[in-house]
Amino acid sequence: MRCNLFASGVRRLLRSKDLEIYFQTAHSRYAIREMELAKRTTYCESVSATLGSCEYQTIEPTFPLSQDPEFLRWSTQLEALSAAVVSIREANQTAEDGRRMKDLQVVCCPISVRSVRENVSTIIERQVHIAEIDGVHVGFCVSSQGPKDSDPLFFQIVAVAPVAPDAQRRGVGLSMFGAATAREPLRDIALATQDDNIAARSLNEKFARTIGATIQRVTLGTYRDRDLGIQRGLGYRAWIVRRPTAQSE
Ligand SMILES: CC(C)(COP(=O)(O)OP(=O)(O)OC[C@H]1O[C@@H](n2cnc3c(N)ncnc32)[C@H](O)[C@@H]1OP(=O)(O)O)[C@@H](O)C(=O)NCCC(=O)NCCS
Repeated sequence: MRCNLFASGVRRLLRSKDLEIYFQTAHSRYAIREMELAKRTTYCESVSATLGSCEYQTIEPTFPLSQDPEFLRWSTQLEALSAAVVSIREANQTAEDGRRMKDLQVVCCPISVRSVRENVSTIIERQVHIAEIDGVHVGFCVSSQGPKDSDPLFFQIVAVAPVAPDAQRRGVGLSMFGAATAREPLRDIALATQDDNIAARSLNEKFARTIGATIQRVTLGTYRDRDLGIQRGLGYRAWIVRRPTAQSE
């Protein structure tokens, strides 16, 4: 009964002028939304084109990344990477490199997204390496050394843009590990992985094999969570990559 009433109501509506009015209203609502979007995009384009990375930081909290032409341009470049060899460099203490880190954080799950300012602080306080192919940033890694000579080198983050097969699985992660550890040839390496992060765990194992080292699990608490860049309760396991000593070689 209720269905019949509903159907006859719909039939009446289909015949009536109401429907035309409904579509006209919906159409104008849509048109207004489109106009607003177009205005906003033009605004973003002009903002992004005229502002340097430093000024970008001021508007960053309210600037929609999905409409940031710089970010969109980078995303397009990522999809057209050549087979060129990856190059690794130390990050500069600039807003530009802070912004590059942020681009990568946005696309590299589960890495947390930080503001440009926070990323610049990380570059100042720790060791950040940026990987580039054809001048396009495709990865970054963050590490820091313990204060004592006997402390390991801690790896907190390694991230490579997930545009397989163009960026991932072509040795970018391994190259960044290599560059970061080359500066500290005597230190072991401590890092943490989440149990379900197969890619990260395999990368660590392959890295250990590549340098002729062993990788062993250590209990959480052996090193400070801050040094490992982890939070408790998220399924992290800690590892130590022990470099071969002169005796063991
Ligand atoms: C983990 C990560 C950095 C690997 O980067 P990458 O540049 O693709 O790694 P590489 O090409 O140097 O791979 C080296 C080795 O790691 C292992 N590996 C990398 N990705 C893998 C995957 N998806 N599945 C299984 N093994 C993988 C393989 O052993 C690989 O050697 P192979 O290709 O010869 O088999 C990348 O997958 C990533 O950014 N993930 C998201 C962020 C993240 O989880 N970071 C780790 C926590 S901070």
